[in-house]
Amino acid sequence: MICQVFKVNSPSRSILPYLLLYFIKSYKMKSALVTGANRGIGFEAAKQLAALGYFVYLGSRDKDKGIEAIKKLKALGYSNVDCVELDVTNIHSIRSARQELEIKTNQLDVLINNAGISGGLPQPPIQVSIDTLRLTFESNFFGPIQIIQEFIELLKKSNEPRIVNVTTELSSLTKHGDPTWKFYPLKPSAYGPSKTALNAYTVMLAFELSATNFKVNCVCPGFTATDFNNYRGEKTVEQGASVIVKYATLDQDGATGKFFSDEGETAW
Ligand SMILES: NC(=O)c1ccc[n+]([C@@H]2O[C@H](COP(=O)([O-])OP(=O)(O)OC[C@H]3O[C@@H](n4cnc5c(N)ncnc54)[C@H](OP(=O)(O)O)[C@@H]3O)[C@@H](O)[C@H]2O)c1
Repeated sequence: MICQVFKVNSPSRSILPYLLLYFIKSYKMKSALVTGANRGIGFEAAKQLAALGYFVYLGSRDKDKGIEAIKKLKALGYSNVDCVELDVTNIHSIRSARQELEIKTNQLDVLINNAGISGGLPQPPIQVSIDTLRLTFESNFFGPIQIIQEFIELLKKSNEPRIVNVTTELSSLTKHGDPTWKFYPLKPSAYGPSKTALNAYTVMLAFELSATNFKVNCVCPGFTATDFNNYRGEKTVEQGASVIVKYATLDQDGATGKFFSDEGETAW
């Protein structure tokens, strides 16, 4: 039937993107893009969205790692996944990923800005190098903004567009001022501020989109066992990703412009 629609006898490589577009359209599948999805929380969030019936594009800065991630998901029975090469610190990579998705899908329903780096710890405020600050802000702040700006038109084509900017409790200025908070002594002065800045941008973006059907939120997965912290996190990737997926799939009554964790709304 697909071949009849495209008036061909056998699918060739050149028509594969169109076949994919046909597949998504005909089955009215919602689509999602998760950055840094080749491993860790991003991979698990992609898996959970695929299980919910989304067609999920896994962003990976290394194409081979993206292909490996897709193979793992397909082996688990998820055929509704694809990968896209995407380095969030490289505008050319972001633009070519956007062009690729514009061919493969006519809309994007969910964008999860998950890719991020710690910048290496500890980061004492007086000693932290400007290079570390710049590197960390490139991945955690400028990257997500450039991705949102490039993908916004594709998101606007969705009836229920959702953006989740993955953040951390370590971005909360309220918590950093509370001596009873369990992470109070931890002051990662590149990583924390890079996510505080991302939170601030999220509030501004949510305001700009407040008259639309967008929901734009910051979500902290919680201290999760991944490469990021040498697997010292207390939560599993399943638990961490499920918080993100919850806010990436909000219904039309859901909140926008907020900061959430598994405990609900969190202090800025
Ligand atoms: N784990 C925690 O306890 C925790 C807590 C709060 C918030 N978070 C946040 O959760 C997110 C995911 O963390 P995680 O624990 O899953 O970390 P992770 O296991 O280290 O995974 C990070 C992912 O981001 C990707 N990435 C890094 N820089 C990138 C770039 N420039 N372009 C594209 N992808 C890039 C990595 O790709 P490569 O494989 O190519 O390096 C990897 O896929 C981060 O934003 C982090 O700040 C984590």
